[in-house]
Amino acid sequence: MCGIVAYIGHREAYPVILKGLKRLEYRGYDSSGVALINNGLRVFKKQGKVAELEETLVGKDLHANIGIGHTRWATHGEPCDRNAHPHVSRSGKLAMIHNGIIENYMQLKQDLVKKGYEFTSDTDTEVLLNFIDDIHSNNGGELEEAIRIALKRVVGAYVIVVIDEDHPDTLIAARKGSPLVIGIGKGEHFLASDASPIIEYTKEVVYVNDYELAIIKSDELILKNLGNEKITPFITKLDMELAAIEKGGYDHFMLKEIFEQPNTIFDCLRGRLDAANGSITMSGIQQYAEQLTTASRIIIIACGTSWHAGLIAEYIFEEVTRIPVEVEYASEFRYRNPIVNKGDVIIAISQSGETADTLVAIESAKEKGAIILGVVNVVGSSIARTSHAGAYTHAGPEIGVASTKAFTAQLAVLTMMALKIGYLKGTLPEKRYMHLLTELNDVPEKVGAALLNKENIERIALKYKDATDALFLGRGYNFPVALEGALKLKEISYIHAEGYPAAEMKHGPIALVDNKLPVFFVATKDSFHEKVLSNMQEIKARKGKIIAIVSEGDDAANSLADDLIVVPYADELIAPIINAIPMQLIAYYIGVAKGYDVDKPRNLAKSVTVE
Ligand code: G6P
Repeated sequence: MCGIVAYIGHREAYPVILKGLKRLEYRGYDSSGVALINNGLRVFKKQGKVAELEETLVGKDLHANIGIGHTRWATHGEPCDRNAHPHVSRSGKLAMIHNGIIENYMQLKQDLVKKGYEFTSDTDTEVLLNFIDDIHSNNGGELEEAIRIALKRVVGAYVIVVIDEDHPDTLIAARKGSPLVIGIGKGEHFLASDASPIIEYTKEVVYVNDYELAIIKSDELILKNLGNEKITPFITKLDMELAAIEKGGYDHFMLKEIFEQPNTIFDCLRGRLDAANGSITMSGIQQYAEQLTTASRIIIIACGTSWHAGLIAEYIFEEVTRIPVEVEYASEFRYRNPIVNKGDVIIAISQSGETADTLVAIESAKEKGAIILGVVNVVGSSIARTSHAGAYTHAGPEIGVASTKAFTAQLAVLTMMALKIGYLKGTLPEKRYMHLLTELNDVPEKVGAALLNKENIERIALKYKDATDALFLGRGYNFPVALEGALKLKEISYIHAEGYPAAEMKHGPIALVDNKLPVFFVATKDSFHEKVLSNMQEIKARKGKIIAIVSEGDDAANSLADDLIVVPYADELIAPIINAIPMQLIAYYIGVAKGYDVDKPRNLAKSVTVE
């Protein structure tokens, strides 16, 4: 996690860095800082959000044409001014920002302490910087050489950017495992964790790869590998507009992103789904059609909300392709010596494309001969680049930390993949295939209709905002929707919430039910409907408060529920995309009513680039 920004060129560096840090705050926001060089090195840092740093710097002389900035999500050491980045070397000449974790920092620190180094922070970053400083002062010569030597001894993940008071015309950056984008302007360069701080200045960018070192001046970018050999930078044109990363009149990014979903799902389907002619065009899937239709199993790997999309996909894939599917938490999968055979199909789902656990999990599966398909939102991200093929979700930049539009786009992509494979394989009969294509085609409109319920949902949110706990129940395709509803509520409103298969509720969670507990039922019309209604009876008998999400035209739950949220009817295989909408809005309105920062919930970060 953590966001990094750096600038070198003809502009004032500080405003560019400050704006960039605000755009990257979703990556972490417990402290921030900047370092600038102009007649010497100056470093400013502060616990709290970027706005707090900005406040303390009002009126200070911040003139400089080179600088680095950082917004932090604490890994080593509590959030405080002292642990904030940039860190400064013992020599007082070098300053560095870092995103990632140096795993062998304790060993390096002990060696440095023996040499008389003292540390002012608890961070692994200060250790790495002084390790570089030590090599540099012993070897003399170029700083880039010292950085190269140091990085060869480092275990872990990093993006670092270093500036040197003695060389105010150069930034040095390096990457392994964490993301780094370099924007190329006219006589200027911009560095950032993603393209959002860069987009308003230039659309030409270079995505730095692992084990690459960049030596950057205003008008020069040199890329090298750790063996000191030059690499030709590959320049990519950004396909993103500034408006996509601004709030556009909404109070919060989360609300904007929830309301964008009719369009984002449409964009995701566009050019792929042709319901009238019964076709799904997905070149990545087509390319591996043979392997996919003959696969003996599919493993889905993801974290967080993306993992919930994977669970829904498990139901869909098994139903229409008859291929056994396992859904794995990336963090568990990568550490338990999983059985992966040559030709196994792995689907990695990730909004950011940078989640460290997911990335490492697919890298090791790839080594074992698996075919990796990525379902990723951020174009050019590490997971997208590591995958053999896949499909982008095209949801546009998602800034709210809690995932919303990326989730529904993931479901749209995964559904298309499953339908295509099922149809090619012959396990999905033509009639059902055609029906599901039409259903999928109708999703943007139905999501739009579900959003029209916002006032009713807000009313319900206000009614239950003071609950201390909540249960979310659903069965079949709607079980993972319940899990996602509970996760959203926890993330945004800090109410303890649990999701369960509605029937499993009897094996424990029912003990929690009393006349105060809100129980959200995802109870749209499907093959489990009667059973879900029975589960609702069981909650009602214990006086729990029932909030039921039901299909339009279905009044079976009316007499049982305290509150109803009506959504358009959709085939059960497609319904989760629509049913996710009230889950998102409930969490949003409760979070806002409680006065929380819904775009940046406490302790979370959007892109988890550490294990
Ligand atoms: C973080 C975010 C979640 C997200 C998860 C996986 O925990 O706060 O919203 O679902 O990471 O991220 P990914 O980018 O891989 O989908």
